[in-house]
Amino acid sequence: MQNSPAEPPPLRTALLAQLGGGAATLLFVAALSRISTADFLRIPLLIALLQGGLAALIALKLRSPRWWLPIHLAFMPLVVIVQGFDIAPGWFLAAFVLLLLVFWRTDRSRVPLYLTNAATAEALLKLLPTVPCRVLDLGCGDGGLLRRLAIVRPDCLFTGVEHAPLPWLVARLRTLGLANVTIRRGDFWQAPLGGHALVYAFLSPAPMPRLWAKAVREMSPGALLVSNSFAVPDQPADATVEVADRRNTRLFLYHPVPDG
Ligand SMILES: C[S@@+](CC[C@H](N)C(=O)[O-])C[C@H]1O[C@@H](n2cnc3c(N)ncnc32)[C@H](O)[C@@H]1O
Repeated sequence: MQNSPAEPPPLRTALLAQLGGGAATLLFVAALSRISTADFLRIPLLIALLQGGLAALIALKLRSPRWWLPIHLAFMPLVVIVQGFDIAPGWFLAAFVLLLLVFWRTDRSRVPLYLTNAATAEALLKLLPTVPCRVLDLGCGDGGLLRRLAIVRPDCLFTGVEHAPLPWLVARLRTLGLANVTIRRGDFWQAPLGGHALVYAFLSPAPMPRLWAKAVREMSPGALLVSNSFAVPDQPADATVEVADRRNTRLFLYHPVPDG
């Protein structure tokens, strides 16, 4: 998914904040050295803390979402602390690759991986038509939700689309024995929504306007769009379902109809 023009790409903002924080720290330390407080230079953690604080300030100025601020604050200090441990560089590469395989391009999609719980799956089962139908999970994660639904409703066909390689692989493996589940690797923005009686989305606030536009264009008349936790902005839901779980999950239900 592309970022809206009002929101700069988060990775670019993060890089600017970190580089800006680094440059400001160098200037600050250079000024201190001139007034002979050069000992400061020998305290890498202190310098890293200063860089983190300045990077967070710059990120704030650049209208970065608030949850980036602790990341900016902690990034360089953690780099300095970890330098103190004797860890082979390969481990850092392995951790990076693992995170990439699980979260893929979350910086672009703005949709991280979190999973629908059992109570919400039960609530979804009650929303399925009583007759055989097709169900689509946009970004199906590890396939756990589709697996649950497919076992209870062998008369329905369930499709999941997932772009992150590792969750996709896990979803494929978890649903291998279920003939009524298809897991596709790809971008759900390219997946046609027509022909599905229920389209399920557990995403984030960021893609909801675009998802609504796609749903209005493509969903079959009478079909149900269910969004877990995230409402479509400026679009009253036709109904909501409160799930009795610990996080007070709310399902927003819509019957998208084409304009005009
Ligand atoms: C919040 S998780 C929900 C997982 C699953 N639907 C569930 O409810 O348990 C959202 C998933 O959408 C995937 N995703 C995000 N954007 C995507 C895209 N454009 N195409 C395919 N998958 C995407 C993410 O990788 C993540 O696994």
